[in-house]
Amino acid sequence: MPFEIIRADITQLKADAIVNAANHSLLGGGGVDGAIHKAAGPGLLDECKTLGGCKTGESKITKGYNLSAEYVIHTVGPVWEGGTKGEEKLLRACYRSTLELAVDHNFESIAFPLISSGVFGYPKDQAIQVAISVISEFLMDHDLMIYLVVYDQKAFVLSEKLFASVKAFISDNYVEEHHIANENRDYEMEVCYYSKSMRSLDDVLEELQETFSEHLIRMIDLKGKTDVETYKRANVDRKLFSKIRSDKFYRPSRTTVIAFSIALELNLDETKDLLEKAGFALSRSSKFDLIVEYFISEENYNIHEINEALFAFDQALLGV
Ligand code: APR
Repeated sequence: MPFEIIRADITQLKADAIVNAANHSLLGGGGVDGAIHKAAGPGLLDECKTLGGCKTGESKITKGYNLSAEYVIHTVGPVWEGGTKGEEKLLRACYRSTLELAVDHNFESIAFPLISSGVFGYPKDQAIQVAISVISEFLMDHDLMIYLVVYDQKAFVLSEKLFASVKAFISDNYVEEHHIANENRDYEMEVCYYSKSMRSLDDVLEELQETFSEHLIRMIDLKGKTDVETYKRANVDRKLFSKIRSDKFYRPSRTTVIAFSIALELNLDETKDLLEKAGFALSRSSKFDLIVEYFISEENYNIHEINEALFAFDQALLGV
């Protein structure tokens, strides 16, 4: 997946470049700036001294020295002053100028911290939305593996109301592993019968022969979407999508199938059909599945809100 939100210490990441949330002097500081300088060693500071500082929203590149990453791109985020001083525009410029440097250097991977969301006080949930929006826009026209490193749980501020309704949905539906068998089988049989009986027998027989790949392509046409917008919204890279398209027996991962369901805004039955074609089923003993099921039944396909909920319940995240 070309864009992943991960929980990690950025100084440990092996990417072509990691991004530093620096200050105008580029001479180090606290937070991630301090952590990167500490891990890189004195060579980084020596090179930074030759750069003559950096303006807010701009980016400059150095080598990575003792870091696993080969390069460091230093960018200076805006200090939060309430949101009326053009902070968002400057923060967007940080991500964009950094990505432009990555393209100029033909990087294949890059890792961002949540710029300005620490010492500079940018509200974390707004900072993460700005990051996701610039990165998603960039990935519509570029191929690059981008990691957004969320260092602490506070970064995802799930609205109270959303948290409460997701929590209620999970407790109403969560079924312990041990008696999932009959519960799930009956549930699946009933859904399977319901969704099949609504279509003619020929359609059902024809669809039963369909592989995952054929079913996906048919759903893309049915929803009037293009291949590109589908795999981009599903955060699946072009190479993987062409493999799925060209190999009718391709076996995707579960997360990829669910990402396509969200991208195509499938309803619950359509999602279950797509999963079934790939040999999977939504499970009542998986919080991840229940959270995805909650959002699909609410027809809320906002990947950011889905990720906020997944993060809040300590689940793996879906890409952009
Ligand atoms: N890995 C990943 N993310 C980290 C790490 C780490 N090792 N350490 C901190 N972070 C996260 C913080 O949790 C925060 O979400 O980086 C984000 C940015 O926080 P800061 O490092 O405080 O950067 P910023 O808010 O942009 O303020 C920059 O702080 O450190 C000084 O010299 C720096 O003056 C500059 C200012």
